[in-house]
Amino acid sequence: MKILLIGSGGREHALAWKIAASPLVTRLWCAPGNAGIAKDAECVALDITDHPAVIDFCGKNAVDFVVVGPDAAIAAGIVDDLNAAGFKAFGPTKAAGRLESSKNFTKALCRANNIPTAAYEHFNNADAAKAYIRRQGAPIVVKADGLAAGKGVVVAMTEQEALAAVDMMFGGGFGASGAEVVIEEFMVGEEASYFALCDGEHALPLATAQDHKRAFDGDQGPNTGGMGSYSPAPVMTDAMCARVMEEMVKPTLRALKAMGCPYKGVLYVGVMVTRDGPKLVEYNARFGDPECQVLMLRMMSDIVPALIASADGQLKNFSLRWYDDAALTVIMATKGYPGDYGKGSVIEGLDEAAKVEGVEIFHAGTAVKDGRIVANGGRVLNICALGKTVTEAQARAYQAVDRIQWPEGFCRRDIGWQAVKREQGKA
Ligand code: AMP
Ligand code: GLY
Repeated sequence: MKILLIGSGGREHALAWKIAASPLVTRLWCAPGNAGIAKDAECVALDITDHPAVIDFCGKNAVDFVVVGPDAAIAAGIVDDLNAAGFKAFGPTKAAGRLESSKNFTKALCRANNIPTAAYEHFNNADAAKAYIRRQGAPIVVKADGLAAGKGVVVAMTEQEALAAVDMMFGGGFGASGAEVVIEEFMVGEEASYFALCDGEHALPLATAQDHKRAFDGDQGPNTGGMGSYSPAPVMTDAMCARVMEEMVKPTLRALKAMGCPYKGVLYVGVMVTRDGPKLVEYNARFGDPECQVLMLRMMSDIVPALIASADGQLKNFSLRWYDDAALTVIMATKGYPGDYGKGSVIEGLDEAAKVEGVEIFHAGTAVKDGRIVANGGRVLNICALGKTVTEAQARAYQAVDRIQWPEGFCRRDIGWQAVKREQGKA
């Protein structure tokens, strides 16, 4: 079977690594890929926003199956266009992908289907939004309606901050994504992510994870796309997972099917575990990055039949096997991220780092220049490790990090702290 993977981040490197391990695969391309992905797939310099070019590539190379990684491609309708051209693809259609691309769509769906989530109101002008904030008081959460690379959310601890966020969003701070805002009740609890593979009707639970969104240790600093993650998330007990499936995933799949846009692909459920039980923070219509990396390390089964069963509506009696081990990933980013950062700095020591037991390194934003690996983005490397416990996986990952010479890079030193504290009996 010939597969084309779409994307170029750490998530796609982890997917490429897992897909390449399948005995079903005879050829694997990745568009556009990166320097690390090139070890597991043939990178092709396609512009993935140019759907006719992607379809043309699939036709010329007799691609059997396309796996779509990033949210932007899903929101742009790449799955719809591939299907219309006769190609099978993994991922939701544009209409089903509104679960991620429109916060208002999801909030309305939750309201109509009694899915537990924060109380909210939706606004398309700043004055009404501000009046609502003044009535509600702080803390309160202001969200741009559309996609904003995971950065369109301001958790305001004061009324002043919330009002400023409204001005920033309506003032064009996130472009068209901020032309509408959702204002939400602030939820108190521990956050975790739950992943399910969906085929339009059925859902197959994958695993749970926790990520670290803030740039610096101690969960300080600006929000990022994610500075590290681990799996499983201890707060997601079996009982909690069962509730997420019954109270969120199943009613969501039923609602989307009834609307004529059945959801196929991976459903990423951002959950706040509150005193009143799980509440939905957000849905994403794709694997998380860096959550995908830890999921792929823990998945024992071949992923390819599962991805195909999702696209074919055949997940009903499907099962996947998982390693009991914990997995953890530390993101190394270019100094300055999530703000401005430079490109082209040289990274050394990757081969030595990869020799640490249980370690796997995925590339998120690298390129090759004069035969050397250089940084080519904000989030650059994912140093991942398996271990019997999160504590062991964490120690291995940082042992590998310490073998990497990259003065222009930085990482958090406390990835996994919640789970490590629990394992040490201190939580
Ligand atoms: P989102 O992009 O919707 O996941 O929001 C980004 C982050 O903001 C989440 O991961 C939470 O940490 C935080 N957040 C979002 N909504 C809420 C809420 N209603 N209450 C508390 N924190 C929130
Ligand atoms: N790690 C958060 C995300 O992928 O949205």
